[in-house]
Amino acid sequence: MGKIWVSNYQKMSKKILIEEIGEIRKIVKQNKQRNKSIGFVPTMGFLHQGHISLIRAARAENQIVIVSIFVNPAQFSPDEDFEEYPRNLERDISICKDEKVDLIFNPKSEEIYPKEFETKVSVSELKKPLCGISRPNFFDGITIVVAKLFNIIEPNNVYFGQKDAQQALIVKRMIEDLNFPTRMHILPIVRERDGLAMSSRNKYLSDNERKSALSLYKSLQMAKKMIENGEKNSNIIKSKIRKFIKNMPFTKIDYIEIVDYEKLQSVQEIRSNTLVALAVWVGKTRLIDNVLV
Ligand code: PAJ
Repeated sequence: MGKIWVSNYQKMSKKILIEEIGEIRKIVKQNKQRNKSIGFVPTMGFLHQGHISLIRAARAENQIVIVSIFVNPAQFSPDEDFEEYPRNLERDISICKDEKVDLIFNPKSEEIYPKEFETKVSVSELKKPLCGISRPNFFDGITIVVAKLFNIIEPNNVYFGQKDAQQALIVKRMIEDLNFPTRMHILPIVRERDGLAMSSRNKYLSDNERKSALSLYKSLQMAKKMIENGEKNSNIIKSKIRKFIKNMPFTKIDYIEIVDYEKLQSVQEIRSNTLVALAVWVGKTRLIDNVLV
């Protein structure tokens, strides 16, 4: 039988799943006293290869790896899919064990947001464009929970995916603005074999919708090729993408944008560090994808 790895906490026969803030704080404090570096991967669970790539980066660079699994109500508006958001804690725990995660923080909503809760954290300009237009409260919901998690976990390193490019930029801004003593790592988008960006929400897609969903990746690849071949006019590229996606059944475009990957402002002419980003409804599922050129 091969050697089975057991994480530090499993080795000491401590449990890996922690629900209470006080309990995780205690463990964090013990590790801080021993000068252990903490790598943190915040997630909403239903883990896939995209999450796993972040966990592996954290595992490679830190002594302690903490993954949070929390479907954060604050980032869902009342008409969104909070209740239906896919969850599978047992499977997530098993993946985390396989990936040698030390601790999973799975807090209760009532402890994160007690009744009297009223503080806001808002990255006021970066939250406005792209996804902020159709989801005006979305990024405030993310920054508040991420700030709280950073205060609870006190990570030395945090890991986010380029898949959610605007989220990553906003969290990076927040880290700098609020002087969190943590280093941000942004990792590349992990895709299915055919190119579809991995997402917990892909599970919602029917077989036919799944085919149409590929138009996000394909149109971004087309845009990338156009740019590589010298096209500099954003409007021409955007209208090509629009046409491509519109041709696929079940699709409804939320936005197609070409922005600078700093302030997320629209650019007329392609320069370096430009983000081509889009959000598209495929049936009842809203998908996002992007490419940095
Ligand atoms: P969630 O959608 O679970 O994603 C957790 C992290 O995984 C994010 O940093 C996201 O960008 C990254 N990720 C998701 N799909 C990816 C892919 N295909 N390739 C690479 N990375 C990918 O993002 C959230 O949760 C929440 O907003 C959260 C930050 C946890 C706050 O609630």
